[in-house]
Amino acid sequence: MAKASASFTCTECGAVHRKWSGRCDACGAWNAIVEEAPLSVSGPASKSLGGAKGRRIDLTTLATEEAPPPRTLCGMAEFDRVLGGGLVPASAILVGGDPGIGKSTLLLQAVAAFARRGLKCLYISGEEASAQVRMRAARLGLADAPVQLGAETNLRDILTTLEAERPDLVVIDSIQTMWADMVEAAPGSVSQVRAAAHELVTFAKSRGVSVVLVGHVTKEGQIAGPRVVEHMVDTVLYFEGERGHQFRILRAVKNRFGPASEIGVFEMTGGGLAEVANPSALFLSERGQPAPGSAVFAGIEGTRPVLTEIQALVAPSSLASPRRTVVGLDSGRVSTILAVLESRCGIPFAGLDVFLNVAGGLKVLEPAADLALAAALLSAREDVALPPDLVIFGEISLSAALRPVGQAENRLKEAEKLGFSQAILPVGTKVEGSAGMALRKLPDLVTFVGDMFGAG
Ligand code: TYD
Ligand code: MG
Repeated sequence: MAKASASFTCTECGAVHRKWSGRCDACGAWNAIVEEAPLSVSGPASKSLGGAKGRRIDLTTLATEEAPPPRTLCGMAEFDRVLGGGLVPASAILVGGDPGIGKSTLLLQAVAAFARRGLKCLYISGEEASAQVRMRAARLGLADAPVQLGAETNLRDILTTLEAERPDLVVIDSIQTMWADMVEAAPGSVSQVRAAAHELVTFAKSRGVSVVLVGHVTKEGQIAGPRVVEHMVDTVLYFEGERGHQFRILRAVKNRFGPASEIGVFEMTGGGLAEVANPSALFLSERGQPAPGSAVFAGIEGTRPVLTEIQALVAPSSLASPRRTVVGLDSGRVSTILAVLESRCGIPFAGLDVFLNVAGGLKVLEPAADLALAAALLSAREDVALPPDLVIFGEISLSAALRPVGQAENRLKEAEKLGFSQAILPVGTKVEGSAGMALRKLPDLVTFVGDMFGAG
């Protein structure tokens, strides 16, 4: 075997490079590459495979007589849905998010809820002392939940404890504070985080324990981000929110046991995280009088419809290359639509600053948002307000044609429920019911511009 030399690892995505550079080629992160000592694995992997004989592994057929694993619901409906319909036994879950966003609060509430439903639950904090966690539990009204609490960072001690306790669920808060003594690297480094996650996930799988790993998203520096363990777990959830907003969104970005891109919506209150059962009403609640630059998009997040307001502001620019400030939408998509408006519809945005935003801090990444986005831009540019009872959805192609999108029925039903009475959507969209709505099906963006804003 070749002699291992030091390598350079990206703390964001875990990519390994031969030499240091300021920017990671794999994920584009700046200042995220750190030097790591050669990985000194002290297991059988480091021994030559030539001599020692391995154990023959058990093989099975694909067919199974077993029923699907019984899932446990914790009763926080938003959390259960994002998991794909409750907790699967022996599953490994990663919950990532910015520091201070509310991960510890969310998981303390969830673990207490599971414990009250009869699961044996352990909460291991590597960041806070037990007294601190107990104080938070008291504040959240969870002091009587039968959760066993531990404050520890030594992985070997944690695994020994888990082996003895055999809980149904353990929360590790956070994976970056865990320290595995078989790896010679500082806690929080890529090798430590990987080794600790690997040990915990392997333990979970072999002993039938579900494990939740908390991971802080790191902006820069020596601490490994949660992305380096994403591939080891079954389910990856990110807890997001805009600074200054009370809303928090728990988003599934990977799930072996349910639909990815499912979201759960919460509100951070003085008494912890409250579930938001009707996110559309919440995201639209700040809508005032009809104003130019506002369009309501009937979207789908995971399995459920969510209505959001897309807001645009267009103003003359004093800059040589005007601003394109986009919050909550894909900025590449915005550029594409600006280009389509310019070259297919003859509506230039050169010399104009463009600001786009999704009200409420939700990220809208569906291509179905294209038409609503274009509508908000046009409405802002032409200074014409759209009808307040109108919802819009549809994808825009590079030729400016409108493409039908999935789940039109669901989108329209949600809009109807919230009092909207007209919708603009692509021609060819299959809609059966929705009698209560006036539907306008349009073939392309040019027709849309003519319809809404005169000839442009
Ligand atoms: P925390 O769960 O500690 O965040 P994380 O684990 O992601 O770092 O939550 C931190 C913030 O949440 C903190 O600034 C205070 C706020 N908070 C509330 O507003 N209400 C509450 O009931 C609790 C427990 C926290
Ligand atoms: Mg925390």
